[in-house]
Amino acid sequence: MRFLIVAGARPNFIKIAPFMAAFRRRGHKDVLFVHTGQHYDPKMSGDFFRELGIPEPDINLEVGSGTHAEQTARIMVAFEKVCERERPDWVVVVGDVNSTIACAVTAKKLGIRVAHVEAGLRSRDMSMPEEINRLCTDAISDLLLTTDEMASGNLRREGVSAERIRFVGNTMIDTLLAQIDHARANPLPEGISERHYAVLTLHRPGNVDHPGVLSGILSAIASVCDRIPVVFPVHPRTRGKLNGFWHPNLMLAEPLSYLPFLGLVARSRMVLTDSGGIQEETTVLGVPCITMRPNTERPITCEVGTNILVGNHPDRIREAAFAVLSNGHRPHSIPEKWDGHAAERIVDILLDENPLPGR
Ligand code: UD1
Repeated sequence: MRFLIVAGARPNFIKIAPFMAAFRRRGHKDVLFVHTGQHYDPKMSGDFFRELGIPEPDINLEVGSGTHAEQTARIMVAFEKVCERERPDWVVVVGDVNSTIACAVTAKKLGIRVAHVEAGLRSRDMSMPEEINRLCTDAISDLLLTTDEMASGNLRREGVSAERIRFVGNTMIDTLLAQIDHARANPLPEGISERHYAVLTLHRPGNVDHPGVLSGILSAIASVCDRIPVVFPVHPRTRGKLNGFWHPNLMLAEPLSYLPFLGLVARSRMVLTDSGGIQEETTVLGVPCITMRPNTERPITCEVGTNILVGNHPDRIREAAFAVLSNGHRPHSIPEKWDGHAAERIVDILLDENPLPGR
C-alpha cells in the first residue's frame, strides 16, 4: 500500500514526525512525504526537519504565501498532479491548516482514501479559517483519527459512523515526549532563569490583523512585563505589526525552531498564547497557559489541563496572568492516550489491510 503524507505548516511537521518514524520502524517503505511549501522560511520549515529527524520531502509543491483562496487553489492544482502520477492508496493529512483541506479535497475527488489525523476538534467559531478547514476535511475523510474522546463525540454528533472514528491519542505529544530531554538541554536565552520568565506567542488573524485588538493585548503584555520578563518569538504574520512596541523586560526574538522553543516553554513560569498546539503542550508539561482567544477547539486542555481561556480583552489577560503569578500551579492531569504511542496506533490502523470494514 502506498501512502502520501502531507504537511505544509510548522505545526504539521511536529505531528507527522512520529508516524513517519513508525512507518520506517515497521519497514514499510512505500511512503512519500509531500511538503506543500505553505511555510518556507528555514525557521518555520527546514529547521524542524533536522531537529525532528524528518527526511527531506520527496515532493515540494513550493506554493508559498497568498490569500486563502490563492494558497488553497495553488496547493490543489499542484497536488492533483502528484496524486495522478503517484496513485497512492491513502493520503494522510494532519491538523487544520490550508494544506490539510486542499489535499483532502483533491485526493477525495480522485477516489483516493483520506485519513485525517487530529480529526473532530471544534471551536464552533466560523470566523476562524481553521474551523472551516476542520469541518470540511472531516466531512470527506474516510478515516478520522482523534486526539481525545470529546473530539470523537463531536464527530458522532455530526453523524459520522463509528467505524470511521478511531481515538488514537496525540502525535504532537508523541513528539514532545520523545524530544523533551533534548529540548531541556538547550541553553536559555541570556538574562533569564528557570521559572522566572513568561513566554508569549501571537499570530491569530483575529488578534494581530486588527490594530485596535493588537494594541490592547500588547498593553496587557506590558503590565505582565512589569512583573516578570517575557520572551516573545515573533511569528512572520505578526512581524511588522508591533509598531515599535517595547519594554525593558520584553525579549523579542525570531521564530524559534522546535527544540529551543519547547525547552523555553518547559522551563517557563507561564505561557500567554493564541496558538492551538501550545495549549496541548503546556498541559503535558504542567505549565500554566493563558489562551488569548474567545474559544478553543481543544477544551480538554481547560477541563483536565493547565489551560485558562481568557479572550483578548486586556483586563482579562492581566487578571489571569497576575493570578497565575500569585497563586502558582493548579491541579491538572494528562488526557488519556497522550502517552507517546499515538503514532504506533495510527500506523497499526493504516497498515491493517481493511481498516474500514464494509467500505
Ligand atoms: C498558518 C495556519 C494556522 C497555524 C499557523 C502556524 C492556515 C489557515 N493557518 O497560519 O492555523 O496556526 O500556520 O504557524 O493554514 N510567512 C513567512 N514565512 C513563512 C510562512 C509565512 O514570512 O514561512 C508570512 C507570510 O507573510 C504569510 C504569513 O506569514 O502571508 C501568514 O502565513 P500563512 O501560511 O498564510 O498563515 P499563518 O498565519 O502562518
